[in-house]
Amino acid sequence: MQQEPRWWQTGAVYQVYPRSFADAGGDGTGDLRGIIGRLDYLAWLGVDAIWISPFYPSPMLDFGYDVADYTDVDPLFGTMEDFDDLLAAAHERGIRVIVDYVPNHTSDRHPWFVESRSSRDNPKRDWYFWRDARADGSPPNNWISMFAGSAWQWDDATEQFYLHTFLPEQADLNWRNPEVKQAMFDAARFWLDRGVDGFRIDVAPLVMKDPLLRDNPENPEPDWKRSRLGSWLTQLHVNDLNHPDMHPLYRDFRRLLDSYPGDRVSIGELHHPDFERWAAYYGERQDEIHVPFNFHVINSPWTATDIRRAVEGVQGVLPPGAWASWVLGNHDQPRFASPERAGREQAKVGMLMLLTLRGTPTIYYGEEIGMVDVPVSTADARDPLERREPGRGRDPERSPMQWDASPNAGFTAANVEPWLPVAPDFADINVAGQAEDPDSILTLTRDLLRLRREHPILHLGDFERFGPTPDGVFAFRRIGPSGQLNVVLNLTAEPRSVPGAGPGRVLIGTRRDRDGAPLDADVELGPNEAVVVEQSGLS
Ligand code: GLC
Repeated sequence: MQQEPRWWQTGAVYQVYPRSFADAGGDGTGDLRGIIGRLDYLAWLGVDAIWISPFYPSPMLDFGYDVADYTDVDPLFGTMEDFDDLLAAAHERGIRVIVDYVPNHTSDRHPWFVESRSSRDNPKRDWYFWRDARADGSPPNNWISMFAGSAWQWDDATEQFYLHTFLPEQADLNWRNPEVKQAMFDAARFWLDRGVDGFRIDVAPLVMKDPLLRDNPENPEPDWKRSRLGSWLTQLHVNDLNHPDMHPLYRDFRRLLDSYPGDRVSIGELHHPDFERWAAYYGERQDEIHVPFNFHVINSPWTATDIRRAVEGVQGVLPPGAWASWVLGNHDQPRFASPERAGREQAKVGMLMLLTLRGTPTIYYGEEIGMVDVPVSTADARDPLERREPGRGRDPERSPMQWDASPNAGFTAANVEPWLPVAPDFADINVAGQAEDPDSILTLTRDLLRLRREHPILHLGDFERFGPTPDGVFAFRRIGPSGQLNVVLNLTAEPRSVPGAGPGRVLIGTRRDRDGAPLDADVELGPNEAVVVEQSGLS
């Protein structure tokens, strides 16, 4: 049943965090017109789609993930006309547009919640989770917020608690109420009717909860290494996460998408350390989420052993015919090139892996020039998470895009203060400089994207394990009817020799002076070097 590959299988996605990408309005915060002004860059880079984080009306306590109206544009970002222009201008350049869909919660300013809160007998009361206190006055159950503290907020006026998995100003919607489902599906239709090419579904596995709202058990072994989740790891989230009723819901959502022409896609934000449970979101008949994001690489230390486990683990559980996805970073994670992740020396190695694995890659804005986190002190933090639980703030990875060496890196006008500080290294690390430099990570990214498009093995070929490899080296094969590529990555700062990765020639590598060079059966890699080997001599 071989069908034509879908655009989202052969294509690459680029995540735009709109506050930080480009500011056309001159107020220090990025906007939709700013994105329009940079579409030529994205076309030049060669991405197939952009995913834009939320730009809907919002009090911006979680910078747009607290939506107060699902069917409009916040004036900070522009107007609905700007959005339509953006969509048309992107489509003219062959770039699809994916928008964020935030189903789990609304802002407490959303008219639905304002109504729901107004009285216990309001018709929208049941659109959210309202519950009485327990006899001792404590919250209805022990659930905790992903942003620290109890997940329940007391409402003085109506003397009940409401549920919020994130900030108290982000109230969880009750999807078991059919009116909620209807209203939220209508919101999706609104954007599909306008012509968007799909959705990235925010915190996809949280949407359905245990109907009895039972307590979560304590977690006997919190994995503090996954520190970005902080105190949330003190429980096992068996009752507020991954409820089986999520699956029929995503089947319905898929049917909604499929009822539109033009291959609309759903990309789910699906953190799940367990491979099997993560893969369940493809659906038993692959009729749920098209592209479940997988965060296994992000959540793994950047060592050959851990990355091999993550990549082979994902490949191993993919249902037959299912399509993987890969990502190195996003607006919630320390940047890949930062010292606490892989470090700048490994930035090109990571990019080469991202763009040669089998599956849809998503590049986080700035990753293509090797941007690193920009520290922001707790006192100056914009992200409320940093104030609720110091050390977890996400400002560092949201610093303004570094376009050129002019003041404010070309992100906003010179005399304007950007909403977050620009990286101190912007004069050296920026798009304009790297576009001219044949050895830059930007040039490598662009060339990899082009190769991926042109080389059938790279965009569609099978994945096969490669090994054993020497310590610190991760490698895999991509195989197609026309041949075999070996992707060989040295994750260490010392040279390595990799037996059996050749003979052949370098199709592309992080050291561009080796492109095209012949290779022996033993492939020699310098420190922090990666190559794609076009293998010859196969019988
Ligand atoms: C997702 C978003 C994150 C947001 C949270 C709550 O994880 O990526 O930025 O804070 O959901 O909406």
